[in-house]
Amino acid sequence: MRSLLQIALLVSATLLATTGMASPDKQQQFVADSKKLIKALASDLQHTMKTAVKSGGFEQAVSACQIQAPMIKQGHNQDSDLKIKRTSLKWRNPNNSPDDWERQVLLAFEQKKQAGISIKKLHHSEVIKTETTLEYRFMKAIPIKPVCLKCHGDEKQIAAPVATALKQQYPLDNATQFKLGDIRGAFSVRKTVER
Ligand code: HEC
Repeated sequence: MRSLLQIALLVSATLLATTGMASPDKQQQFVADSKKLIKALASDLQHTMKTAVKSGGFEQAVSACQIQAPMIKQGHNQDSDLKIKRTSLKWRNPNNSPDDWERQVLLAFEQKKQAGISIKKLHHSEVIKTETTLEYRFMKAIPIKPVCLKCHGDEKQIAAPVATALKQQYPLDNATQFKLGDIRGAFSVRKTVER
């Protein structure tokens, strides 16, 4: 006779197969792919920023950030069905504002940070079902580092020409007054598959 456990496993395997539910394996694979993509984009962004700062200072890097960030994203997305963006509760570019799900996750990150969890460990994944699709989602928190304060800190930390450039290009800018140890925002990755 089969053990209860075997029967339970069989039933859940059948359910997975027939309802097109996300299998834990697929979710794990998505999370692994997302982490890889985030690493690549983060390193590209860092490189773009360093090069721009070297050639024209932080003022120049403001334009580099604006122009290059979407280009870099496109490059990374070319061969993949993963979509990636950067988002924040306090955004600079309105195109980066969080959707409802992202806002909830960002708020949960803030709470976990308050509870003493290191920002490096803050990530979250979920599979959201609609009638016709499965949406895999993943977010990873981004910490504020000293260099970020040159453009995301307070009035004393942001040089006057940088502040002027930011004001011109981002009249709705909300992404200043950050401090070391704050969560700046998060990378957000999603992938949609038909059920
Ligand atoms: C030279 C100025 C500059 C520096 C330095 C800088 N940023 Fe930004 N940051 C920007 C600009 C400009 C944008 C808006 C980009 C866009 O239009 O998408 C931005 C946007 C972002 C966003 C996307 C959300 C939003 O607010 O629109 C995140 C996340 C972010 N920066 C994190 C960081 C982190 C982390 C660092 C430090 C490692 C950093 N930035 C350093 C200028 C800068």
